[in-house]
Amino acid sequence: VRCQAVEGDKRGAKRNVFDNASNLLTNFLSGGNLGSMPIAEGAVSDLVGKPLFFSLYNWFLQHGSVYKLAFGPKAFVVVSDPMVVRHILRENAFSYDKGVLADILEPIMGKGLIPADLDTWKQRRRVIAPGFHNSYLEAMVKTFTTCSERTISKFDKLLEAKGYGGQNSIELDLEAEFSSLALDVIGLSVFNYDFGSVTKESPVIKAVYGTLFEAEHRSTFYIPYWKLPFASCIVPRQRKFQRDLKIINDCLDELIRNAKESRQETDVEKLQQRDYLNLKDASLLRFLVDMRGVDVDDRQLRDDLMTMLIAGHETTAAVLTWAVFLLAQNPDKMKKAQAEVDSVLGSDRPTYESLKKLQYIRLIVVESLRLYPQPPLLIRRSLKPDVLPGGYKGDKDGYPIPAGTDVFLSVYNLHRSPYFWDNPHDFEPERFLVERKNEEIEGWAGFDPSRSPGALYPNEIISDFALLPFGGGPRKCVGDQFALMESTVALAMLLQKFDVGLRGTPESVELVTGATIHTKNGLWCNLRTRSDLQ
Ligand code: HEM
Repeated sequence: VRCQAVEGDKRGAKRNVFDNASNLLTNFLSGGNLGSMPIAEGAVSDLVGKPLFFSLYNWFLQHGSVYKLAFGPKAFVVVSDPMVVRHILRENAFSYDKGVLADILEPIMGKGLIPADLDTWKQRRRVIAPGFHNSYLEAMVKTFTTCSERTISKFDKLLEAKGYGGQNSIELDLEAEFSSLALDVIGLSVFNYDFGSVTKESPVIKAVYGTLFEAEHRSTFYIPYWKLPFASCIVPRQRKFQRDLKIINDCLDELIRNAKESRQETDVEKLQQRDYLNLKDASLLRFLVDMRGVDVDDRQLRDDLMTMLIAGHETTAAVLTWAVFLLAQNPDKMKKAQAEVDSVLGSDRPTYESLKKLQYIRLIVVESLRLYPQPPLLIRRSLKPDVLPGGYKGDKDGYPIPAGTDVFLSVYNLHRSPYFWDNPHDFEPERFLVERKNEEIEGWAGFDPSRSPGALYPNEIISDFALLPFGGGPRKCVGDQFALMESTVALAMLLQKFDVGLRGTPESVELVTGATIHTKNGLWCNLRTRSDLQ
């Protein structure tokens, strides 16, 4: 029993009962059929009051890079090894589906790419992925700058108002500001809808946040109560969730109807010639409707748009949040980033071309994703029996798993693995500039940028799956370059004008997690106009 009850300490005694029950269950389940796989003796108290991925990291250091974890009535295999992750995501990708994650997301995203069954996924991926080509990204960089500009001018106005009161800095929850910025970007670029959330509230915006909140709640709640008959009529939060969904779906349905009605052959020609910069509406919805004709199924389109709204919003906001959190603690790196922005952009706005010269900002974005991956865990369920490679220091014969095994791929553990990264917890954007030949780890190809020539950002190919900010294999994020460019533009434009510091200590910024890692009470910062510009 790991937590000892102190005499008279009721909370301790309660924990003790929990731990005993949980350990019994662990032992019972561990007699299962996972061969010699190490077993983490988790206790229920390990899962209370802190994000699950912290505990998974400690167990990784204790038990190795493939272990089995059982708690409550559930058992999972936890993987923290690039070679095993490569096997599951790339080499044997179609032997797995999204398991628990699909159960959670299906009521929200329907048959959208993330929860979709394999047949639907194959058909829709072929249609959607080409929409994110270079001409589209080039046009979207303009949207990123327009939206970032709104945020910057909001900060300018707030500072100006404070200036009249004799103060030269403002306190802001930057996490909330980045969330509004990312929502505006995704609305305009995916379905040409201006949420305008940087400056206003609306029923649709409230419904989007309500839906995100519910998705988050479901991903941390172990009993799918929302599946109970009549739950959507009786449980108040389920009734609210259904109302929120209807508001968003009505909005999306109208946008789809408009896009179909306004389809013009001249636009189709421009799309075919990739003449995006001369299109009034260059959104992904326009592409999907124009290139596929009006017969494309409305329900499927709506599921696709909803999926991208959810997948592309909080994730990008989280990258910006943690990039600022890390920079605020490393003023010398903030200065270095500002110097790069000054020399590349001066007072101009970023463009598709100038992004290529903002190397340090790009590395900051990826380093932030390394330390705070979104999501910290990828979830899979085996569709047929498989043998997982033993991984680094694991059983050389590998570990057989039966069909139906739930697997957590811990990206957080991979990204902070002491076996694959020097000083894994330190914020060092420069680390990606150093090639790392591998001599000691069998089966891992090392860190070598020449494996992905022309890549603007370090990725899973360069790192042979040690760095996995957007997943890998066939189900890799479709919006990866979009999100990286959006984050680079927004960060560069923030640093071009402002110095940022934390309002409290870094330790006071508590982490919580659902689909993404975010703060418990906001990222409260002091923002001031850069002193070297005044
Ligand atoms: C999938 C991360 C932004 C759309 C994924 C996956 C990851 C990820 C890790 C793989 C999930 C898995 O294998 O289970 C991120 C991060 C983002 C981001 C960190 C921001 C920094 C976006 C954006 C969009 C998007 C902007 C769309 C506009 C999708 C879709 C999938 C996906 C549709 C499912 C792909 C498939 O299954 O074929 N994302 N994403 N993501 N992402 Fe992103």
